[in-house]
Amino acid sequence: LQCIYMEAIILVGGLGTRLRPLTHTIPKPLLPLANVPMVERMVKNLPEIFDTAILAVNYGLNEMETYFDGRDIGKRIVIVPEDEPLGTGGAMRNCFDYITGTTAVFNGDVVSSINLEKMLKQHVKTGAKGTLALWEVDDPSRFGVVELKNGQITQFQEKPEKGTELSNLINAGTYLLEPEILEMIPSGKKISIEREIYPKVAGNGLYGFPFEGYFIDSGTPESYLEANFKSLGKNGTAAHKGASIRGNALIHESAKLKDCIIGSDAIIGPGVEMEKCVIRKSVILSNVSGYGSVVEECIIGPDVSFENDLTRSLISPKGAISF
Ligand code: GDD
Ligand code: MG
Repeated sequence: LQCIYMEAIILVGGLGTRLRPLTHTIPKPLLPLANVPMVERMVKNLPEIFDTAILAVNYGLNEMETYFDGRDIGKRIVIVPEDEPLGTGGAMRNCFDYITGTTAVFNGDVVSSINLEKMLKQHVKTGAKGTLALWEVDDPSRFGVVELKNGQITQFQEKPEKGTELSNLINAGTYLLEPEILEMIPSGKKISIEREIYPKVAGNGLYGFPFEGYFIDSGTPESYLEANFKSLGKNGTAAHKGASIRGNALIHESAKLKDCIIGSDAIIGPGVEMEKCVIRKSVILSNVSGYGSVVEECIIGPDVSFENDLTRSLISPKGAISF
């Protein structure tokens, strides 16, 4: 009897500039989504056949190593560092020694409802060299855009100029790739798989896997909030003795609340202490303390406090990050 296991590469480079100042202290992949770091969530979501998650890391290497050191999350974790950012393609190629066959690759900042098992079935059935998950959007210009004909990707454009997009189907940042595609990437060089490899493989064994549900590139404050609420799903905390819960909400077991109204769509992190606060459509990160405030559409923390009328100047509406 032969057991076959597969590897998944998660691309977790990048500075997370649009999520500053949060990413000054926490590298983006370790930012929590409903109280679980983004990258850990991604690893845990892998189907069983994937026993190894390879993390292609540059920025935030120490934090990542520290986080995963000795932590059992049900899969083997291999951290592969880059001295210099190698781009999406270069980073994958840098992981080549750790893969054994068909490999799944994820952009580490994407949160989606993709069914990887279904995608893998299609990949095997079509005999594709590569299968790209595809998502339909109204404005595709800030993404990778494909032309899809009879299931095959016949052209690939990365961030096309507005008006020149081939379709509304975008690259959703989840791939199944055969080793021969990774072998096309020169090693030790900065290479964008989207700009330098996919346009070449298009029309020659590259397939698309359109899916429905949700797709969020969680790189901005607004989309980070949305990704949190999607990750929370419908399984919020049922009750907390210091809070009245409205709709979907999640309160970490170590949080201490008194006379608060939490939700709908609110996530309270570990070590938070709040009294007389109303929290809606917001994420409160670890060790925040708050008093007497209404908080809406905000990301707050970690390790800050807010109080009474100060909220106005501390917290701006519409998903701003406040310290
Ligand atoms: N290790 C490593 N090294 N990772 C990297 C590097 C690098 O040099 N550069 C980027 N990454 C990681 C990022 O951290 C992110 O998880 C992923 O690769 C994609 O990079 P982004 O910088 O987020 O690209 P994007 O969002 O502009 O575009 C990509 O994603 C879109 C979907 O969200 C492209 O793949 C588009 O084609 C796609 O539509
Ligand atoms: Mg991105």
